[in-house]
Amino acid sequence: MSSTAATTRASASVQGVFSSLRVGGLELPNRVGVSPMCMYASADGFATDFHLVHLGRFALGGAGLVIMEATAIDPRGRISHHDTGAWSDEHVPGLERVASFLAAHGAVPGIQLGHAGRRASVNEPWAGGVPLTDQDAAAGTPPWQTVAPSAVPAGPGWPVSHALTLDEIDRSIEQWRDAAARAVAAGFRWIELHGAHGYLLHSFLSPVSNRRDDAFGGDADRRMRYPLAVVQAIRNSIPANVALAYRMSAVDGIADGLTIDDTAAFATHLAAAGVDLIDTSSGGITTDRSVDTRVRRGFAFHADFSHRLREVVDIPVATVGFVVDPAQARLLIQHGDADLVLLGREMLDDPNWALHARRALDADEFAHWNVRYGSALQPRAKTLARLADSGETPLSRFT
Ligand SMILES: Cc1cc2nc3c(=O)[nH]c(=O)nc-3n(C[C@H](O)[C@H](O)[C@H](O)COP(=O)(O)O)c2cc1C
Repeated sequence: MSSTAATTRASASVQGVFSSLRVGGLELPNRVGVSPMCMYASADGFATDFHLVHLGRFALGGAGLVIMEATAIDPRGRISHHDTGAWSDEHVPGLERVASFLAAHGAVPGIQLGHAGRRASVNEPWAGGVPLTDQDAAAGTPPWQTVAPSAVPAGPGWPVSHALTLDEIDRSIEQWRDAAARAVAAGFRWIELHGAHGYLLHSFLSPVSNRRDDAFGGDADRRMRYPLAVVQAIRNSIPANVALAYRMSAVDGIADGLTIDDTAAFATHLAAAGVDLIDTSSGGITTDRSVDTRVRRGFAFHADFSHRLREVVDIPVATVGFVVDPAQARLLIQHGDADLVLLGREMLDDPNWALHARRALDADEFAHWNVRYGSALQPRAKTLARLADSGETPLSRFT
């Protein structure tokens, strides 16, 4: 990293959770974001009222960035039949409703674009997240032919994917670019590419899944070629004030898989190709449950990886994974583990997490709540404080 970048980093590292963050040509109002989470609530890729309300709650809840779930660039790239999509212009109006609500309520509207590659064509997590079968076909959700860099199944018992031809690779790069253009047309200001969890971009990068011997496989430079081509195609076609983020699996956690050294090198290429932020996740390259690939699920379990990536790139880095506590979020930023914290399940538990964190960290008296809520909650807080002083509790009348 250059000395100027190091100086900028040093001053950035003393920023608080609720200071703004510059990401490329975009300014995030604070450093709390909602991590993309598939809801499996869609039919034919269309965003529904469920998405509007589900995501809208996080904007009303004070998150500076709300990233809509992995949204497929190609129907074959859906994880399940119920994923959202951006492979057709017809998807734009539904996406636009979501983006415009998020923006109107103070959050940067973000969307993750994805292609599940050899991990596509499965049922929902609550049904096992396993490949669709003929039985599913009878129930109206048939399996489809998945595509990947090589005809290597994701794990034992998983179907063999079709290995993309060179022409098909060119076509898929266009699909990424077109989906990004639709997301921008819908009003999203943050386009995140799903380059993690064993999905198509990751499966090109990892030697575990990429066994090609042409320009898109072999050594590390050639395995990077497809993801970098996707990044360049999108960066060259979206406005400068739309941030381009890339979620990567920092490690494969498997013998012969990607290590943090490999992905740190890849991150520098991503930054050079025009990525504005690296979002640090891990795992997913195999579905073989007999191999223990998972990073141990402690608090902030990707922070060591995001810390390392921050040391090698000049762009901001996000961390995700069991961030649950406002003081933890503050320390992650102050210790240089991340520039941005993303929360997934914690937000499902408390969509107002960011506002609650702001009260805890900045003693904020409802100034950042939607006025319709804040104007009612502030006098209520005073009453609650008076009752607490007087020793009265909700159970007093029963004692
Ligand atoms: C229901 C659910 C759906 C998810 N869908 C996605 C997704 O669409 N894209 C993605 O990159 N990660 C996805 N993830 C992973 C989360 O974004 C996040 O990285 C992970 O849950 C760890 O963060 P947490 O401990 O704050 O939940 C999903 C996780 C959950 C629980």
